[in-house]
Amino acid sequence: MLEVIEVSKMFGRNVVLKNVTFSLKNGILGIYGANGSGKTTLLKIISGFEKPSCGRVFFNGREITNKAPQEIVKLGVAMAFQIPRVFWNLTVHENVLLAARETDYTAEICKELNLEDVLFKKAKEISQGKVKLLQLAMCFALKPKLALLDEPFASLDAENVEVVLEFLKKRGSEISMIITAHRTKILKTIASQMLEIRGGKIVGSS
Ligand SMILES: Nc1ncnc2c1ncn2[C@@H]1O[C@H](COP(=O)(O)OP(=O)(O)OP(=O)(O)O)[C@@H](O)[C@H]1O
Ligand SMILES: [Mg+2]
Repeated sequence: MLEVIEVSKMFGRNVVLKNVTFSLKNGILGIYGANGSGKTTLLKIISGFEKPSCGRVFFNGREITNKAPQEIVKLGVAMAFQIPRVFWNLTVHENVLLAARETDYTAEICKELNLEDVLFKKAKEISQGKVKLLQLAMCFALKPKLALLDEPFASLDAENVEVVLEFLKKRGSEISMIITAHRTKILKTIASQMLEIRGGKIVGSS
């Protein structure tokens, strides 16, 4: 499904990804690493929000290196951002509808992601944890084939971690995912494959 081949990224002189190579057939891949190890940059390169300095990315046999984010989304790759990208002056409901490819299942997604109690509140009026859930809802409303989830468990309380795990497990059979985290504990409960990234390099897999 996804092949990342020898991807490197420099910001000025700062090398933040070094020859990153991995592939994902199906299922859920967990990528863990410390702050600044390059997780977000890697997901942004796959989704087209950053350009690699070198290397190539293929999705379902098609090269997506350097394609624009909106093209990559159309091919079925959606990203849920670590730093939220939502429309702060719109309601939760409106945000999810805007993201949705079709609207018939948005209610189900919002219900499953524990957003029902804030559906008609503006995004700027809800808690950080709920914004996190909204970001996930917007990603899955796109009906992706591959979902790139950048630290989906950060800033969630224990109850909502369970809500999200349940949601992702339910979709894991149809939708492939790459999920990043600092720690392995929660990731291990859901990922079928794990990679460790350190200083922009993949240093281990399990
Ligand atoms: N737009 C940018 N311009 C310059 N440097 C950047 C940019 N984006 C990221 N970096 C640098 O790239 C490195 C990796 O950052 P990245 O956000 O990918 O790490 P991360 O693993 O996601 O960290 P965190 O766990 O804190 O989210 C950092 O040193 C960061 O300062
Ligand atoms: Mg990050």
